[in-house]
Amino acid sequence: MWSYYMPAKLVFGVDALDELSKYVGDGKILLVTGRHAMKKAGVIDRIVDMLDANVVVFDRAEENPSYQTVDKGVELLDENRCELVIGLGGGSAMDTAKMIALVAANGGSCYDYVFDGKEPSKPSLPLIAIPTTSGTGSEANRFAVISDNERHWKRGFHHESIYPDVSIIDPKLTLTMPPKVTANSGVDALAHAIESYWSKKSSPMSEMFSLRAIELVFQNLEKAYRNPNDLEARTNMSFASMLAGIAINLAGVTAAHPISHAVTAHFGITHGNGCLIPLPALMDYNKEAAPEKVLAIARASGASSIEGGIRNLKKLAEVLGLKTCFSEVGVAEKDIPLLIGESSYSSSLKNNPRELTEETLTGLLKKMI
Ligand SMILES: [Fe+2]
Repeated sequence: MWSYYMPAKLVFGVDALDELSKYVGDGKILLVTGRHAMKKAGVIDRIVDMLDANVVVFDRAEENPSYQTVDKGVELLDENRCELVIGLGGGSAMDTAKMIALVAANGGSCYDYVFDGKEPSKPSLPLIAIPTTSGTGSEANRFAVISDNERHWKRGFHHESIYPDVSIIDPKLTLTMPPKVTANSGVDALAHAIESYWSKKSSPMSEMFSLRAIELVFQNLEKAYRNPNDLEARTNMSFASMLAGIAINLAGVTAAHPISHAVTAHFGITHGNGCLIPLPALMDYNKEAAPEKVLAIARASGASSIEGGIRNLKKLAEVLGLKTCFSEVGVAEKDIPLLIGESSYSSSLKNNPRELTEETLTGLLKKMI
């Protein structure tokens, strides 16, 4: 049995941003974004000019957004009595906006909901997501990843009230993404697609989204990385990211994401790169429990065998200039218990098609180091 519920209106295509004013009312708007990229690209000015409404800019969304940043955003929203939240940027900006919209409507601190399990009782404020990277898929799901930087905690939060009401996916906004960001966000989309495909919670519906996203990433990510102005490759990557975002909404992720969360919380690696490194070892491990699925992933990568698929994954990391193992960011075997301790809180481990024990996870982590 499976169900499909995706209440976000997805507006997709080149110049889709021109449609934004259709979805905005008269009230004040909190525009949540990062510090530099969108200002430099002139997108903030464009949005402010486009909307007659009063726009308050909160440009503090940082990589791995913390609950403290969300709380600061809520303060600014309250001071200005904003009625709508727009998240403009990568996953960090969209996730910050999602949580601001939830906390502003429900009170308290973001910490209460993400780390203390408090249930929101009211619907979030209206929310529009505008992705400017192609990776997290946050525009098409009910997830937000929030950190506690003091305690080195990073949690995936999910709730039906943080679906964006509208997501405007304009591939032109991704043209200014530097190659490094293209690579790191693109492999995050790939991890979403692969993990949701072999997840125990997958369904014929989610598998369709996952498999197409895997193909699109292998066919387009290197092109977008090498030629940032290739609008066709950019459009295909925006589509892949969105599809994979829907796929994880339906089927969840498995082991690569909790491992990445644990490594990024303690060592200097990006979320996407941290998710990519575990995948070859997990493909090899999961082939016993889900041989047909692992072969289908390999085929979607352009290979004819599982071994070829594993090689394609490793090759992709190399051509994109990404790190290929965790020792490159200082992880050593002595850190394995810490990484297992921090990733084992995640229910995503249970979605892995082959059971993971402390012992098998230790063996896998040794291969990833
Ligand atoms: Fe991710």
